Amino acid sequence: MIELPNSPESTNLLIGVTGSVAAIKIPILLEKLMNLPLNIVIVGTNHSFHFFDLQEIKEKYKTVKIFTDDQEWSSWKQMSDPVLHIELRKWADIMLISPLDANTLAKISSGICDNLLTCIARAWDLQKPLLFCPSMNTFMWEHPVTSEAIRKLETWGYTLIPVVSKKLACGDIGPGAMAEVDTIIAQIKSLV
Ligand SMILES: Cc1cc2nc3c(=O)[nH]c(=O)nc-3n(C[C@H](O)[C@H](O)[C@H](O)COP(=O)(O)O)c2cc1C
Repeated sequence: MIELPNSPESTNLLIGVTGSVAAIKIPILLEKLMNLPLNIVIVGTNHSFHFFDLQEIKEKYKTVKIFTDDQEWSSWKQMSDPVLHIELRKWADIMLISPLDANTLAKISSGICDNLLTCIARAWDLQKPLLFCPSMNTFMWEHPVTSEAIRKLETWGYTLIPVVSKKLACGDIGPGAMAEVDTIIAQIKSLV
């Protein structure tokens, strides 16, 4: 049995989080999203959980559900059981991938689906909005593989929330940092 938040008259927002240092902003992003009429589910990659405290989020926001790769497998025992990534794909009205790191960007753009987040993206309904917020070091950002991948996502109708230029966590200065949280919130607000 997979229980998902289902307050009536709220939009179902699925937040994908990947292993970029910008995942430290998840608590502030959530705090601001809680003011909107949203049912929220978070799906994080294993690396994403290095950057924010899963337990703290669970305790602070009882209505927010967080799923990890482990649950994809522990929730399925036999043929009649629901498959978590398909249930989440059906449940979500909007998917926001924030931050989207270079690795998962490359995987999604080429159809690789080797964890819960990329399986949801692989099965995504192109009629529903998918917004993505890249976040990476300037060297990664400027490599041609990045713009190729982003272009591909945009041709599928996904919405790029552009990176900003600033001093990055590694000390370098340049483009590649995730959009400001308020920019992301404004995009979500326009959809709910
Ligand atoms: C401290 C640290 C910070 C990182 N920050 C970023 C980042 O901002 N952007 C990025 O693309 N990769 C970053 N990485 C590399 C990713 O974590 C790595 O590619 C990882 O395999 C991503 O896995 P995932 O896409 O499954 O989350 C960072 C790695 C470390 C150790």
